[in-house]
Amino acid sequence: MKRILNTETIKHLGEKVKVCGWVNTRRDHGGIVFIDLRDRSGILQTVCSPDLVESVKEEYVLEIEGIVQKRPVKMVKKDLATGEVELKAENVKVLAKVSSLPFDFLSKELSLKLPTLLDYRPLTIRNPEIKNIFKVGEEIVNSFRKTLQCLDFTEFQSPNIVPAVAEGGAEIFRIDYYNYNAYLAQSPQLYKQIMLGAFERVFTITHVYRAEPSVTTRHLSEYTSLDAEMAFIDSWHDLMDTCEIIVRNMFADLSGFGIAVPEICKGIPRLKMREAQRIIFERTGRDNRKESDLEPEDEQEICQWSKEKYGSELIFITHYPTKKRPFYTFADPEDPNYTLSFDLLCRGLEIVTGGQRINDYEKLVKNIEKWGNKADDFSFYLQAFKYGLPPEGGFAFGLERIVKQVLGLRNIREATPFPRDMERVDRRLFLAQKKKPAKKKKK
Ligand code: 4AD
Repeated sequence: MKRILNTETIKHLGEKVKVCGWVNTRRDHGGIVFIDLRDRSGILQTVCSPDLVESVKEEYVLEIEGIVQKRPVKMVKKDLATGEVELKAENVKVLAKVSSLPFDFLSKELSLKLPTLLDYRPLTIRNPEIKNIFKVGEEIVNSFRKTLQCLDFTEFQSPNIVPAVAEGGAEIFRIDYYNYNAYLAQSPQLYKQIMLGAFERVFTITHVYRAEPSVTTRHLSEYTSLDAEMAFIDSWHDLMDTCEIIVRNMFADLSGFGIAVPEICKGIPRLKMREAQRIIFERTGRDNRKESDLEPEDEQEICQWSKEKYGSELIFITHYPTKKRPFYTFADPEDPNYTLSFDLLCRGLEIVTGGQRINDYEKLVKNIEKWGNKADDFSFYLQAFKYGLPPEGGFAFGLERIVKQVLGLRNIREATPFPRDMERVDRRLFLAQKKKPAKKKKK
């Protein structure tokens, strides 16, 4: 007999069927045992005689054959897709046994400390609330892809082993590549720009690597970058317009998840960084007006201001200082100390970075060298410009940061099933390798 899913049983009233799944709960009622079986579609109540399930405990994996029957009226559960039926078990086969469980991982208020939550990841991903986090992540990726395909962008695969550093040298993982130097990609930046020469509009969804020497609630050593790049822009505002379409669609696509998605007004506000610092100073007395970036508390304050003034929990901050942005960033012709670049902040955290790029070959070569690199190391990338690229720009969304912000998670490590940070590759490294943890930088 072919297995059917738990939720399909409602179409088979009175028939014999086979279902498979995990024991969600077991309730013993004297001469009868209720096993709630969990599969990918949902939960099904099964009614078993004790001899069929004598040794069965929670999380055992079972295959059950039986007859689908209507539940007694008093037992109907309206909030369950299978709430009107139950399965009268005839045969129960144990597919996998389970050793004793360390804690009640199915609890609605699973309030474990983060290290325990992650140390027991193979178990805690089964909690419905936690499982939902990764469904939200999946939906965000799908939505990003769908929107860009609709806008005629072409998807490509970017390499993760690279010969040169795109975003600055400090946060790079060096690898031994057949005795040569190579790096794990910090971003697909250079490759998405190269690809414009063939496709004009491209995007890629890829893992990127940052050797973050600190443990914060918003940094991972490996994260998922949702990157796009577009040529023939009339102005860098086209880039922010495109980001806005993506975000609006994302939030609309998340409407089925019962989440309070961030509020956006018509036209996400766009504010210069220096202007933001002035507003923050006036509101809080905190004087960061000479700083070259917004501090984390500044990002929170300016989002609060945007919410109060415009009813938008998102805001674009523009014109970051040239010296703080990578070599490829286009300087503002009106004031070359600042760039035509932006961050999109959401509920107090940067979720996107983008901007116009230098597309003039000579200027780009000069800038690469001004930033302390050898143009020769970038000769592969530079070919794209040598052989002609139009005015262009792009942006990158950090997937885990969006998940964190839309769900209000406390720590970005909760937003990805298998987070990597300076202390963890699945297990906490210093415990696994009996070494002292590396020194952290304050951030
Ligand atoms: O600001 P970043 O470094 O920008 C770039 O990588 C550019 N190449 C993007 C562009 O097209 N101009 O990173 C982009 C986004 C950030 O806005 C943030 O959301 C996320 O990636 N991000 C991180 N997420 C998790 N952990 C980290 N360590 C992150 N670093 C950046």
